[in-house]
Amino acid sequence: MAKTTIINFQFLLPFVIFTLLALTVAANDEAYPTTTTAPDCSLSEELLIKPVRREVYGGGRIFDITHQVTVDLPSYDTEGGRLGQFLRLPVSMKNGSFCNISEMKFTTHTGTHVDAPGHFFDHYFDAGFDADSLDLDVLNGPGLLVDVPRDKNLTAEVLESLNIPKGVRRVLFRTLNTDRQLMFKKFDTSYVGFMADGAKWLVENTDIKLVGVDYLSVAAFDDIISAHHELLRNREIIPVEGLKLDHVPAGLYSIHCLPLRMVGAEGSPVRCILIK
Ligand SMILES: *[C@@H]1O[C@H](CO)[C@@H](O)[C@H](O)[C@H]1NC(C)=O
Ligand SMILES: *[C@@H]1O[C@H](CO)[C@@H](O)[C@H](O)[C@H]1NC(C)=O
Ligand SMILES: *[C@@H]1O[C@H](CO)[C@@H](O)[C@H](O)[C@H]1NC(C)=O
Repeated sequence: MAKTTIINFQFLLPFVIFTLLALTVAANDEAYPTTTTAPDCSLSEELLIKPVRREVYGGGRIFDITHQVTVDLPSYDTEGGRLGQFLRLPVSMKNGSFCNISEMKFTTHTGTHVDAPGHFFDHYFDAGFDADSLDLDVLNGPGLLVDVPRDKNLTAEVLESLNIPKGVRRVLFRTLNTDRQLMFKKFDTSYVGFMADGAKWLVENTDIKLVGVDYLSVAAFDDIISAHHELLRNREIIPVEGLKLDHVPAGLYSIHCLPLRMVGAEGSPVRCILIK
């Protein structure tokens, strides 16, 4: 008897799903009615087949400050200092599959990304302070994009000279790295980042919790461990690294960064945008 019931249910399942889908579509249609007008004839055929890639949306209101993930991205730990081939197509239409499915392989600190406390503290790693544990309230909200002096790393002296008011919780620091287009070259240790005393000064004298920089590491290479330690020790600050800050005017924005919910990972690629 029980068996029959199961069989009947399985038989019915596709119809149940179909009905649910139909209801969902109907509901969506109400909220987002399908346009019945003909497509815009001014769109050339070329535009329709060639994807448009851009950084500015909404007539200058939204800036994408995320780097494209390409084989040319600088990379700390790969041969040649570049990311290299990170995509493969194990399921491909050219080989008779009904669709294409790519696989990707790269470190969680690739391109524009966030660090979780477990990146430099093993006890935080073991305790689960991973990318999924990062506070979206820190990663989203008002903040400043500021230019810093181009002839120095981010020392206490430089930080102090910026006069960032108390209460500012998010700051993106545009440095010489942007001028040098370092994110478009192979990995280079001479990038500008936080020195340990600069990181300590920021922790002790500001309310900044989101620290954004324009190269792969928030810490200058010479202070790579000590500056990370200063920033990550209290688990309050989230470094956002590898931001694409060229062509964006300095100023006040609404910052939005969304990491992937990578459980067990001490970092994650992130999509970051600024909204005016
Ligand atoms: C599917 O994969 C093939 C390679 O097998 C590629 O040439 C083609 O552009 C892909 N098609 C789509 C729709 O992405
Ligand atoms: C198709 O399969 C062959 C043999 O497995 C492989 O060498 C080739 O790279 C595949 N091509 C694509 C586009 O996936
Ligand atoms: C910043 O520090 C790095 C070493 O971490 C050094 O190579 C670079 O020259 C410094 N940059 C500036 C502008 O002082």
